[in-house]
Amino acid sequence: MKNFLNINRLSKDELHSLITLAHDFKNGKKAQLKKPVYGANLFFENSTRTHSSFQMAELKLGMKLIGINPSTSSVTKGESLSDTIKTLQAIGVDVVVIRHPKTGWYQGIDTDPRVRLSLVNAGDGHGQHPSQSLLDLMTITEEFGRFNLNGLNIGIFGDLSHSRVARSNAQLFFDLGANVYFSGPKKWYPKDFDQYGKFIEPEDVDKLLPKLDVVMELRVQLERFDQSAAGSFTPKAYYEKYGLSDAKAHLMKKTSIIMHPAPVNRGVEIASDLVEAPQSRIFKQMHNGVYARMAILYSVLKSMNLIEEPEYEHIN
Ligand code: CP
Repeated sequence: MKNFLNINRLSKDELHSLITLAHDFKNGKKAQLKKPVYGANLFFENSTRTHSSFQMAELKLGMKLIGINPSTSSVTKGESLSDTIKTLQAIGVDVVVIRHPKTGWYQGIDTDPRVRLSLVNAGDGHGQHPSQSLLDLMTITEEFGRFNLNGLNIGIFGDLSHSRVARSNAQLFFDLGANVYFSGPKKWYPKDFDQYGKFIEPEDVDKLLPKLDVVMELRVQLERFDQSAAGSFTPKAYYEKYGLSDAKAHLMKKTSIIMHPAPVNRGVEIASDLVEAPQSRIFKQMHNGVYARMAILYSVLKSMNLIEEPEYEHIN
């Protein structure tokens, strides 16, 4: 796996290896690099979790990082993303992690034979958030003790239309055997999600909650709405109709968990106290993100023959 771009391009075996590797890193596995390996993190959209946990993962793997800020780079002079990547390659960068507002920013760049460094997608527009999907899968497999999601009932609720997390997770969970349910404002429901699960009308969510194993709330991404839609959005009305309140959370099974990719709009998509409630795995998701990203980076470095360990060793 030279590049990590789209979670749905990976086979079940590749996913399983990445999850196992992430668990091994969480249990103390160390990596040894064959030579100094240089990384650059290019975030054209704001980020706290993804940016800092990729950076933490890179440092834990022993990589060296060069700092580059798109807002002060020559991208502001019109340099293309492709030329920016080739520039970083020319100065010796081995891996570039990119978050970009353009859906599928990597298309064409990933097939360009002149691009030899590794590309890692940290989120592309409304497309994919594959490292988030991997850490979400890691969190679910830890919780339920199995990689196979057969029969698991997972609800993904909220701003589905703008969410790359929803898009990559819906397909991933469906492919791994889960029963996937969606809800939220109907106007924010992408019709093509019908192939992965079932839309539940908001007034029927109370009947669904007792059967769910995972309740995944999504942030309302006001920054992606046009101005008039963002201006007419009322957080209180949204919470009352669609948010996960304490009363709704009481309908969930004791064994079910609450997830959210974060950042969280407390009191909008979820009651503030539920963020750190016993059933919440929101901060665990962030913690697992470091190990999931170590697994991703380790795998791309291994494919570039930059990892010292010739054999993969499983740590129990
Ligand atoms: N979940 C997530 O992608 O968070 P950031 O935008 O802070 O990276």
